[in-house]
Amino acid sequence: MTKAVIQFEHVKKAFGNEVVIPDLSFTVNQGELVTILGSSGSGKTTTLKMINGLIKPSAGTIRIDGQTITDLDLVKLRRHMGYVVQQIGLFPHMTVGQNIAVVPQMLKWDQERIDQRVTELLNLVQLAPKDYVDRYPQQLSGGQQQRIGVARALATNPPYVLFDEPFGALDALTRLELQKEVKRIHESLADKTFMFVTHDINEALFLGQRVLIMHEGQIEQFATPEEIVAHPATEFVADLLGTVQQNQNLWGHYHD
Ligand SMILES: Nc1ncnc2c1ncn2[C@@H]1O[C@H](COP(=O)(O)OP(=O)(O)OP(=O)(O)O)[C@@H](O)[C@H]1O
Ligand SMILES: [Mg+2]
Repeated sequence: MTKAVIQFEHVKKAFGNEVVIPDLSFTVNQGELVTILGSSGSGKTTTLKMINGLIKPSAGTIRIDGQTITDLDLVKLRRHMGYVVQQIGLFPHMTVGQNIAVVPQMLKWDQERIDQRVTELLNLVQLAPKDYVDRYPQQLSGGQQQRIGVARALATNPPYVLFDEPFGALDALTRLELQKEVKRIHESLADKTFMFVTHDINEALFLGQRVLIMHEGQIEQFATPEEIVAHPATEFVADLLGTVQQNQNLWGHYHD
């Protein structure tokens, strides 16, 4: 049964006089993994931050699980939304375990429950708890730090997780590993809705069950990767796909 959990209805966003999103409407269903693909400045981060209330729309309506976002307590809303960004911002003076437990601590979970959750999450992101829980962030590779970022975002078991180009700074192989990891984690957790922003078409097509392609704040196409590849909706999308054809090796690498 499909249930619409993120709904944009004629959403507009202007910063001062600059309209970056003129009129955006789309719906995401519970349990989907949607990637948002677009070039720099196309409005991806702005769209993501409107979902968790960090940015307010200038006009239009956003509904989360049926409720208009302006009616929701934003602190509570954000607690329901994990957030993973490129500059993960792990606290350098805290261990891996303490970093993952920041929000549970804030919510005053008892220590036993916290320890259990940290162990569970480290296993989920495939870092052996006994080897990693007491390390400090500077004792981890970039890819491992991102895994901790993902674990931290999942700490309170939120129904939504938003990713804003989390793997942009990683080398191609580490990046591929983490993409597989995100896919696996999404499959292993029932009913979690993931929104994943990227400017990398390979990443978008590999990860997304549906891909929302943005250009200058507007949707060029919002469809499954198969549909996009078979029937690009606009010339812009066709040109984008052209860049994949030039990159056959990588494409093969992703899909073999
Ligand atoms: N706080 C702000 N004040 C003014 N303009 C802003 C602000 N935030 C974003 N913009 C502008 O809005 C447009 C969209 O920005 P956004 O960050 O959403 O792009 P993006 O698609 O995430 O790009 P990138 O891939 O570079 O991260 C850009 O032109 C940007 O300059
Ligand atoms: Mg951005």
